[in-house]
Amino acid sequence: MLSGSGPRAGWRPLLLVVPFLLVPEPSLSCPSSCRCWPDNRTVGCSGRGLESVPAGIPGGTRVLDLSKNRIRRLEWPRGAGPMRRRLEELDLSGNLVSELPGGEEEAEAEEEGAGDGALSGLGQLRRLRLNHNRLRYLSPGALGRLPALESLELGSNPLPALLDLTFRGLRRLGRLEVGGPQLGYLGPRLWEGLPALRLLTITGGSLPAAPSALSLQPLANLSALRLNGLARVHRLPAGTFGHLTALRLLELDGWSSLSELEENSLQGPELLLRLTLTRCNLSSVPYLGLRSQPALRWLDLSHNPIRVIRGALLRHVTRLEELRLVGAALTIVQPEAFRGLHYFRLLDVTSNQLRSLPETAFRSAAGLHSLGLGDNPLACDCRLNWVVRRRRRLRFLGPAPTCQTPEAHRGLRLDRPPPPGSFLCSRPRIRDKRPQRLSVREGRPVTFRCSADGNPPPDILWLNPRRQRLGAPTPGPFPLSGPALGRSRLLPDGSLEIASVRPQDAGIYRCVARNAGGNDTASATLRVRPLSRHELGALRPAAGGVVRPGYPFDTQTLLVATTMGFASFFSVVTVCFSLLFAWSRAKGPIKHNNVQVDFVPHGGGGGGGEEEDDAKFNMKMV
Ligand SMILES: *[C@@H]1O[C@H](CO)[C@@H](O)[C@H](O)[C@H]1NC(C)=O
Ligand SMILES: *[C@@H]1O[C@H](CO)[C@@H](O)[C@H](O)[C@H]1NC(C)=O
Ligand SMILES: *[C@@H]1O[C@H](CO)[C@@H](O)[C@H](O)[C@H]1NC(C)=O
Ligand SMILES: *[C@@H]1O[C@H](CO)[C@@H](O)[C@H](O)[C@H]1NC(C)=O
Repeated sequence: MLSGSGPRAGWRPLLLVVPFLLVPEPSLSCPSSCRCWPDNRTVGCSGRGLESVPAGIPGGTRVLDLSKNRIRRLEWPRGAGPMRRRLEELDLSGNLVSELPGGEEEAEAEEEGAGDGALSGLGQLRRLRLNHNRLRYLSPGALGRLPALESLELGSNPLPALLDLTFRGLRRLGRLEVGGPQLGYLGPRLWEGLPALRLLTITGGSLPAAPSALSLQPLANLSALRLNGLARVHRLPAGTFGHLTALRLLELDGWSSLSELEENSLQGPELLLRLTLTRCNLSSVPYLGLRSQPALRWLDLSHNPIRVIRGALLRHVTRLEELRLVGAALTIVQPEAFRGLHYFRLLDVTSNQLRSLPETAFRSAAGLHSLGLGDNPLACDCRLNWVVRRRRRLRFLGPAPTCQTPEAHRGLRLDRPPPPGSFLCSRPRIRDKRPQRLSVREGRPVTFRCSADGNPPPDILWLNPRRQRLGAPTPGPFPLSGPALGRSRLLPDGSLEIASVRPQDAGIYRCVARNAGGNDTASATLRVRPLSRHELGALRPAAGGVVRPGYPFDTQTLLVATTMGFASFFSVVTVCFSLLFAWSRAKGPIKHNNVQVDFVPHGGGGGGGEEEDDAKFNMKMV
């Protein structure tokens, strides 16, 4: 019977008798620096400044906790043999162990009964924790004498390499955690002979940039793989995880150079349920890479420089339930971002730059159970009303979401009842709605003004006379997705600028100011004064000959053409071309820069009166 401080001291004499009769083996001792719990046969000696394994550990001990001490070398006290044989869990984490004796030769010596090899004689040990030690080297076979071992933790050790056969003989090992910042090499046959391995965690700050160096192929039964701190890997080629068809959980954390996930990067494990890509360098949600993962349910992309969750692009991961994107650079979640995701119920976008979160991002906001929105510069207007309305049915994750704007409601919490007059929008009002009428000479620039007030500040867009949207697409709750026509530009104050006006630009332009509260429009009329014939001529570039003002043909062409007559000129050209074509078919392709055809239509009219007077052909044959 182990000694211990039991609350029922009065019952002790009676209780003592029974175990003594049934189990004669256990001693009454407990090492002075430890605590012993007879109920679960646990001896706890954590954080006692021990420099070696204490003597006097009771014989029937199942769990021995020696963590957070100053043990440098694992040596067992005399007479610990029977105790070791029955030990099931040994915790040596947070010590100073730098080597594990027990190579091939030593193992044999131990067999004889000398019995001092560190990890021998532990025939029933199921769990061993050696993380946070000073291990620099693991000899092949050092761990091989633990036939019952199921879980091994070797993380946070300064191991530079793991050689082939290091884990040989651990036929029952199901869970392994290994590595540290120095780990830079894995033997190509390291993972052979581990048929039971299901969960593997590797931390390797110095592992090579090619993920194939992980040699994971033999681990066909692996269901969870965590690869941390592979800071040198830039890309994941197809097939990196190709053999791991049983994989359900994949975590890549701290791959600080990984900036993109290609379409086929995750091919192979087709039924991933959980994917974690945290603290990488992804600048967008890896929509393409996710296409091969229809079963995915939990996705974590936290701490990546991702700025936008785009509309409807996650629809391939139809079973997605949770998305975490904490501590990223999000400025916008687009409407329909989670369209088609019937099971979606948790979104955590804590600690980003979001000003709002549209209710229309979700297929149905009623399905959402948990929301992390704290630590964002939220603009509390009608767009966030849905969060306030649903606050009692939502579980808020992380810090409570609070308003940053408008000024009057700064600090207001979204998980509390809203004061009157909060979470409102006001419809945009264009400041000056008097119709603008501008008359501009062809080729000159023009600017239409439009500015509007409203809460939230409205987006401004322009429609041209053909009702096409103008101006560059801007990020914002209503991104302008229409064509951004070349010569026009939307200025930050909402004005529209056309760099060089053409006759076809004339007509009525419409400025639309919109926000969540509604819209307002104003119009502007543009009249274009065409260039005079004289100005047209002055603008024509002098290319390859004397150009006479106001004359639409270049003189050389005209001379040749008039001499031959236009009809014969063009038939000669046509014959020339057919010959050239036939010759090129016979000789193979011709270089395109040998023949150059320029066709410059000109809308001005006037000139000769011949049939081709609205076009200029200029042919050079080298
Ligand atoms: C054993 O029991 C003690 C006290 O009941 C408890 O603190 C300790 O965590 C237990 N140990 C294990 C390994 O279950
Ligand atoms: C996978 O597990 C099965 C039994 O669960 C085992 O027979 C097989 O050898 C394992 N495969 C590998 C490659 O370890
Ligand atoms: C992360 O990506 C950015 C560009 O997207 C690049 O400038 C930067 O160097 C990358 N960082 C690392 C550590 O690779
Ligand atoms: C402006 O609002 C009206 C309804 O008030 C709506 O029918 C119209 O489509 C809106 N226009 C734009 C460009 O959003």
